[in-house]
Amino acid sequence: MNETTDLFEAMRTMRAMRRLKPDPVPDALIHRILHAGTCAPSGGNYQRWRFLVLKDMAKKQAVQAWYKKAYDEVIGPRYASSAPPPGTDAAKYARQHAAVEYLTEHFHEAPVWIVACLEEEGAGSRMSGASIYPAVQNMLLACRALGLGSTLTTRHMIFAKEVDAALGLPAGVQSYAILPIGWPMGKFGPLGRGRLSDVVFLDSYGNNWREADAVQEARAQP
Ligand SMILES: Cc1cc2nc3c(=O)[nH]c(=O)nc-3n(C[C@H](O)[C@H](O)[C@H](O)COP(=O)(O)O)c2cc1C
Repeated sequence: MNETTDLFEAMRTMRAMRRLKPDPVPDALIHRILHAGTCAPSGGNYQRWRFLVLKDMAKKQAVQAWYKKAYDEVIGPRYASSAPPPGTDAAKYARQHAAVEYLTEHFHEAPVWIVACLEEEGAGSRMSGASIYPAVQNMLLACRALGLGSTLTTRHMIFAKEVDAALGLPAGVQSYAILPIGWPMGKFGPLGRGRLSDVVFLDSYGNNWREADAVQEARAQP
């Protein structure tokens, strides 16, 4: 089952889909995804988001070169030397690393990218990110609902200036995420995350809310 309109099902199974087919994605679906993005809230409802839909292979390749450089110099060594995150194990983490490497090599082959940008003065901040990532998550969920694969990627920001120039963004516009979109080679499925009560506190920071785990455990039953 690749499509779903069940929101909770979509959230529970929206894996980072890094292996994508090169087959084209109809514009009508991209329009629906973009519309879902602009349904998101933004601070003051200012809607300073701008979305660059990219199909141009030369531009995607130019960005992929920076994306790969960031992998070679920063991300690859980090993966090689870090422990599996909560909710995963060494084998799953190795599979994630392999998928990350795959996307690095094939980034530009995704038939369509949505580059999520903000029109803003000066350098971005935590505050500005809060006005674009809700739109990004809405678009990822819309992809999931339509059976399309994507991944939230931000690695290009390691070389933000160079990438924004390669994308041809004008002064005062900065990119915050690149969503490579395409039909997935693999299947959507359950995510690996840590225990809820390890990160949720009741009333006092540090007072783990153990009862919160019941929902997660019930959901994990086949
Ligand atoms: C802020 C942020 C930045 C991310 N950047 C990248 C990226 O540049 N490349 C990539 O392959 N995945 C990226 N991801 C995806 C995460 O690596 C992914 O969610 C994680 O591997 C867990 O996979 P799962 O969601 O399939 O469980 C990013 C996720 C977030 C939230």
